[in-house]
Amino acid sequence: MSNSKILFLLTGSIACYKACQILSRVVQAGHEVQVVASPAALQFVGNATFEGLTGKSVISDLYAPGNVMEHIHLMRWADLIVVAPATANYINKIARGVGDDLLTTLFLAHDFKKPFLVAPAMNSSMLEHPITQESLQKLKDIGISVLDSASGILACGEVGAGKLLDPDSIFTQIQKSLPFTEERSPKSSPAPQKIADGFLVLITAGGTVEPIDDVRTLTNTSLGTTGIKLAEFLTDFGANVHLLRAASTPSADARIKQSTFSTFESLQSSVRDLIRVHKFDLIIHAAAVSDFSVESIEINGKKYSPSTVAKIESSDKLAIYFKNNPKIVDEIKELSANKNAKLIAFKLTSNATPDERDAAVQKLLSHSHADYIVHNDKTDIDKIKQIHRFTLYGKNQKTPLDNIESLASKIAQIYLKESL
Ligand SMILES: Cc1cc2nc3c(=O)[nH]c(=O)nc-3n(C[C@H](O)[C@H](O)[C@H](O)COP(=O)(O)O)c2cc1C
Repeated sequence: MSNSKILFLLTGSIACYKACQILSRVVQAGHEVQVVASPAALQFVGNATFEGLTGKSVISDLYAPGNVMEHIHLMRWADLIVVAPATANYINKIARGVGDDLLTTLFLAHDFKKPFLVAPAMNSSMLEHPITQESLQKLKDIGISVLDSASGILACGEVGAGKLLDPDSIFTQIQKSLPFTEERSPKSSPAPQKIADGFLVLITAGGTVEPIDDVRTLTNTSLGTTGIKLAEFLTDFGANVHLLRAASTPSADARIKQSTFSTFESLQSSVRDLIRVHKFDLIIHAAAVSDFSVESIEINGKKYSPSTVAKIESSDKLAIYFKNNPKIVDEIKELSANKNAKLIAFKLTSNATPDERDAAVQKLLSHSHADYIVHNDKTDIDKIKQIHRFTLYGKNQKTPLDNIESLASKIAQIYLKESL
């Protein structure tokens, strides 16, 4: 369990109910949380919910008997402070140095060496108000992490910017901003430090795209998100990550070396080039590779090679012939310049029974010689509800993991254990 101390501030927005989801995730991740809520926030969600979630009574009053120095003690105690949701009122007050209640006074007592995250939530007119914009800019200028807000239908019925960022993204930002703790830097390491300094990691992410004609393609639903998050997480741990991502996958943050692929062939040749030249310690092959490429296309009874076909007309009679692609994952260990490189491969099944999942993973383990397989079934993924569950299979064990962060953290633990 990680054990950071998080001071969680809530101000009076309708989005307070969403903060409960963030609180639940943060507590489940093993952090100790103290909620401080403004009197306005307590109009939206009550002490019982916060106490039930965190195991601690909410603090709200600057002058509560016995706790009059809380504004100083809490700021010393916390490793990270997050305000979610942050109202226009709160943002505008703290940007001007007002300290007329507990929450604003806490901000005045902030130690700028610690991360302070602000997640705004308000109606778009309040967000776009020049005073609010000036305050947000002021907070950024002095080193406060102001998270984006999301766009959509607001509680007032208007559509626009100002919604609280979704709870999963806020949770991720919290995790990313936390200083290294016992969980993130292991007990065996002498002091908090980056655990994977100098370790070379290759991560492939996103889906291949096979051309059919010069405007149509065969591809898959992979977005590459898992690979990107793993790349960012392992970079946080000090690993030197090269992310080989699909051209359509958004870039990861600028600290990470990145190159792109499109077709199966381009992915295969990039992987080969990279692993033959660089001695990667760990290769995480998360890309969704097409099992087929287009071999030829028959238009009105005549066969063509796909690269030569211009846009096929809707009146044409069409047949597409596919060829099976070899498994890139099967040659990684053999071609790798580092013969001790570890390999983590991914397996996706669709509506498979537990036995079918195990069998699919065992088959991949045996032909790829991977050290670990990350399995998920289509039914474990709901992109709209942002649910993504995994099972990590080793040679003799399997570990269910509830989200990408847990997967990344588990991989970092294994990676560390085996690397020491
Ligand atoms: C139903 C309702 C919803 C509100 N939602 C928001 C909101 O999302 N964002 C905001 O800035 N203010 C919102 N307000 C206004 C704040 O509650 C008000 O400005 C309050 O003084 C904020 O106090 P605090 O910043 O000390 O928590 C809302 C008010 C009501 C009655």
